[in-house]
Amino acid sequence: MVTAPVVIVGNGLIGAACAATLRGSGHPVITVARRGEPGPGHLSCDLTDAGGRAALARLLRDRRPARVVLTHGPSDVTWINAHEREAADTHAGVADLVAGSGVPAVLISTDNVFAGDRGHHRPDDPIAPANAYGRIKARAERAVVEAGGTALRVSLVYGWAGPAYRETYAGRCLLAAAAGRPTDAPVDQEFTPVHIDDVRTVVAAHCAAATVPGGVAHLAGPEQLSRFAFARLAYRLAGADEDLVRPCSRAGTEWATRPRFSSLTCDRFDDLPGLAGWSPIPAEQGLARMVAEMPAPTGLAAAFPAARAAGLAAGGGTR
Ligand SMILES: NC(=O)c1ccc[n+]([C@@H]2O[C@H](COP(=O)([O-])OP(=O)(O)OC[C@H]3O[C@@H](n4cnc5c(N)ncnc54)[C@H](OP(=O)(O)O)[C@@H]3O)[C@@H](O)[C@H]2O)c1
Repeated sequence: MVTAPVVIVGNGLIGAACAATLRGSGHPVITVARRGEPGPGHLSCDLTDAGGRAALARLLRDRRPARVVLTHGPSDVTWINAHEREAADTHAGVADLVAGSGVPAVLISTDNVFAGDRGHHRPDDPIAPANAYGRIKARAERAVVEAGGTALRVSLVYGWAGPAYRETYAGRCLLAAAAGRPTDAPVDQEFTPVHIDDVRTVVAAHCAAATVPGGVAHLAGPEQLSRFAFARLAYRLAGADEDLVRPCSRAGTEWATRPRFSSLTCDRFDDLPGLAGWSPIPAEQGLARMVAEMPAPTGLAAAFPAARAAGLAAGGGTR
């Protein structure tokens, strides 16, 4: 096990989960994000600014971490399409500085580097980004991989996001189900959803390994499902009427600009510490885990601020 700190850039759904897992197993961790109290375990800076990126470069130079894991945003696909330059500064700018730092890196990347006209992509498939998000992540991947790091492309991640962050699609479905609220779910957008616990497990193993494997790897759930099928499964497991999930086309929804497929085939990670024989959990198991962790209906209002509960039909981002 490495004892120098791990720097986790981004402290949202993926970053916070990875930080908690690593800290839980005794790794010192330093998180980086705009929000959060600055201190020995957290650097607060805006990576869109050259000054913020310089602060990160200083942290890497002064602390010489064992790994840097890039999980930062922006992650809202629609926002990135409208703000490509700022998003490029934040994603490709950070990837370039990390590549130049000599610190072994793991970049959380995306299936959006593919055109999305078919499912089950593998790491060697040629990329063809169809949106600004995919183009920027492809640039960041190149920088990290050429420097010997790993680009870990993950499919849509689900799990409870925590009160400070936008809820995941699964969380929104489960909360709507618990409230007996109907939801419209596209039948024509398919993905391979992966549970956050699988993401944190694989990222932590990359940090515990003697060296990062390098290259591109795919981390995804074991099944390809439509949003409609996934939402129905969530409603069923939450004990709600599945028919509250109404089929629709993605045109006219928040996913109108998304490709038909956001789908990866999951690699094996047998060579990483503790992952011999590992495989990702199916959606039924992951959603059941979320239901088990879900606050009781009477606790919903306290656990999930009203604005979030009211916004169940809204949202977006990579989710
Ligand atoms: N979630 C998914 O399904 C999924 C799938 C594939 C790939 N990814 C990629 O994985 C990464 C993490 O995803 P996520 O779902 O964990 O995202 P998230 O919950 O939105 O978290 C993003 C983190 O980045 C920080 N951040 C955003 N802009 C920043 C800036 N200008 N300077 C410093 N920090 C900034 C945010 O904190 P502050 O707001 O406090 O700065 C937050 O901690 C993203 O690159 C995303 O594109 C996610």
